[in-house]
Amino acid sequence: MDKRSAEEAVEAVVDAETRAWDEQDAERLVALFHQDMVWPWPPTADAHDPAEWVWGMGRFDAERWRGMWQRFFDAHELVHNRRRTVRVSVAPDGKGAFAVVDVDTLWRPHDGGEDQHWLGRACKIYTLVDGSWKLIAHTGLLSYPPGRKVQPLPLPDPALQDERVRLRPWTDADVEPANRATQDPLIHRFTGVPASPTLEQTRAFFDAQPALREGGAELTLAIADATDDGFLGTISLLRFDWDARRAEIGYWIAPWARRRGAATAAVRLLSRWALSELGLVRLALHTHTDNVASQRVAERAGFTREGTLRAFDARGEHPRDIVVFSLLPGDGG
Ligand SMILES: CC(C)(COP(=O)(O)OP(=O)(O)OC[C@H]1O[C@@H](n2cnc3c(N)ncnc32)[C@H](O)[C@@H]1OP(=O)(O)O)[C@@H](O)C(=O)NCCC(=O)NCCS
Repeated sequence: MDKRSAEEAVEAVVDAETRAWDEQDAERLVALFHQDMVWPWPPTADAHDPAEWVWGMGRFDAERWRGMWQRFFDAHELVHNRRRTVRVSVAPDGKGAFAVVDVDTLWRPHDGGEDQHWLGRACKIYTLVDGSWKLIAHTGLLSYPPGRKVQPLPLPDPALQDERVRLRPWTDADVEPANRATQDPLIHRFTGVPASPTLEQTRAFFDAQPALREGGAELTLAIADATDDGFLGTISLLRFDWDARRAEIGYWIAPWARRRGAATAAVRLLSRWALSELGLVRLALHTHTDNVASQRVAERAGFTREGTLRAFDARGEHPRDIVVFSLLPGDGG
């Protein structure tokens, strides 16, 4: 199996696990494990030190595990189950792999007891047995980076608006135009959006937003036309470092809505709000050195050009240089 197909196969196993939780299917869950799996876990999302770990499930035992989950499913209602695969990595020999998955699963007991919130990042470790990937180890759910306070990001209230654009949460109606817009190779080239995304990928991005916002990781808003609410693009606050009180801003505009000041207006509105309402001391804006349009947006929105970070973006075939801009609370413009 080549590396790409192996990664896809591991991702499919992660998705199969997500569906098994969605459908509360204890039988299908049990089928995902290696028979030698041993499962200790951190008692809280802050327990990064394994010296604090406790015994949860013990060693795999299909009958015992199936029974535990069945009793759990009978006693709880699934409120939501949001899972996002952050990374899949296959070992050079092609026989081992791990997947990093952000989990946000909320269970509500039927008897009115306390909710159970599974929230954090897991490393799921797989081994290839007779052509199928089996889960053999798991770190449990931990918050990353360690010590990060999970602090839900508020939505701007009232909504941010000027005479040109309005920033608002996504709606279902945005999925189709957002998917059409992101077929533009420039968006893929200059942002983290995948090339030619399918409608399902766009929807998955959209579905992941509430969990990212509640987990304090990302706030993404739709940029809509101030007059007719038509979808123009998206803007995000991301890469928060709460200890250093800084974050980054990123955006794209649909090809049909460009060069009308939408990006500049959206960046002005959200950046000022982030600095005043979230208590940040610095907001960074990264653009590729050949992204002249985005550099103009940064300047027009009052950001200061600080310099070039060499080989900072290693996502493509070759590492690319980044021009970094920043806005501080005292900056005018
Ligand atoms: C960069 C991007 C967001 C700009 O959006 P936009 O709404 O067209 O930008 P604005 O209309 O606010 O334009 C701001 C400034 O940039 C200039 N500009 C816009 N597109 C330009 C282009 N292709 N070439 C040169 N200048 C350009 C505008 O003329 C304007 O400058 P001015 O006020 O001096 O005339 C949009 O082109 C885009 O989505 N590109 C692909 C994704 C991307 O690069 N995202 C940013 C990643 S950092």
